[in-house]
Amino acid sequence: EKGGYKHFMAKEIAEQPAVLGDALRHYLGETGQITLPGGGIDFTGVSRLTMVACGTAYLACMTAKYWIEQLAGLPVDVDIASEFRYREPPIPEGTLAVFVSQSGETADTLAALRYCTGRAQRIVSVVNVAESSIARESDLALPILAGAEIGVASTKAFTCQLAVLALVALEAARQRGTLDAATLAAHVQDLRSMPGRLNAAMATEATVAETARRLAEAEDVLFLGRGTMYPLALEGALKLKEISYIHAEGYASGELKHGPIALVDKTVPVIVMAPHDRLFDKTVSNMQEVMARGGKVLLITDAKGAAEAGEGVWQTLVLPEAPELFAPILYALPAQLLAYHTAVAKGTDVDQPRNLAKSVTVE
Ligand code: F6R
Repeated sequence: EKGGYKHFMAKEIAEQPAVLGDALRHYLGETGQITLPGGGIDFTGVSRLTMVACGTAYLACMTAKYWIEQLAGLPVDVDIASEFRYREPPIPEGTLAVFVSQSGETADTLAALRYCTGRAQRIVSVVNVAESSIARESDLALPILAGAEIGVASTKAFTCQLAVLALVALEAARQRGTLDAATLAAHVQDLRSMPGRLNAAMATEATVAETARRLAEAEDVLFLGRGTMYPLALEGALKLKEISYIHAEGYASGELKHGPIALVDKTVPVIVMAPHDRLFDKTVSNMQEVMARGGKVLLITDAKGAAEAGEGVWQTLVLPEAPELFAPILYALPAQLLAYHTAVAKGTDVDQPRNLAKSVTVE
């Protein structure tokens, strides 16, 4: 069943270019026209989104917030389901509520969905298990089509969630007229190029595995990122702690000097996720602050970023270039591979990490 891989997680990481391609073809066909099931989402009268999920699915929502706000000009609130459900926030008129869950059975996410039923204008879910409770109780369920995910740490579900949420953002932009047809088509084309880029990025695996052997000696690791790389930094830290049991924290790069920089010394690897985008220079200056305090920086970037990063970086991992908007889909891969190979180096139970369940159906 593991198809020759040592762990389900390894198989599921490697499957991503294929399943992502399938998911995109499902929604875009050959023409590149976005087709959502069940009549799709009508954004008429929608004035805001509230997105609710747990864990990695929550981080997919955080990433989508950047897309939906930037592309469609709709404000987005993102919440952790366990907080949302007991906070019982007001749901203003015109709220589209979106619930993201791989299993579709996460108790807190389901409870949050039930809270929104009758309050939100419409309930949309983004699920992997099509016949799940969350799918059944939504007005519209969008399948992510990742196929069965067995490894406890979510990998291919995350990239497929991102792809479907990117399509929701583009569809909102189309209906609201916030993007002209040519720009919209260019973004769709960019999104369709992501499976190929992910495939090319798989070539970094041997290098990542080497870095991971060194990372396995660390007790604490920091992940930094700006913009859409901020949720990716959180995802990198979550993956690492969950399967390698190394203490890891993700921060927005700009928050570094507001506290976490106090942790930095030569024993703390700092993983900086920074494609060469419009925020690159800002992140480089944060990186230099880390290096000035003896921190060991692992920079994950593209060729341009590597060329401009300057001296003193401990290690650089060079990924293929990616369209700025959809870079998070690509940068999920090194985050997953680093966690995976660190766990393998430490000899932990990758597919069944201690204390964790694949589906959290109780609070
Ligand atoms: C992390 C992970 C968990 C899940 C979370 C939500 O790798 O797997 O954080 O993402 O438990 O699960 P679903 O998506 O099934 O609601």
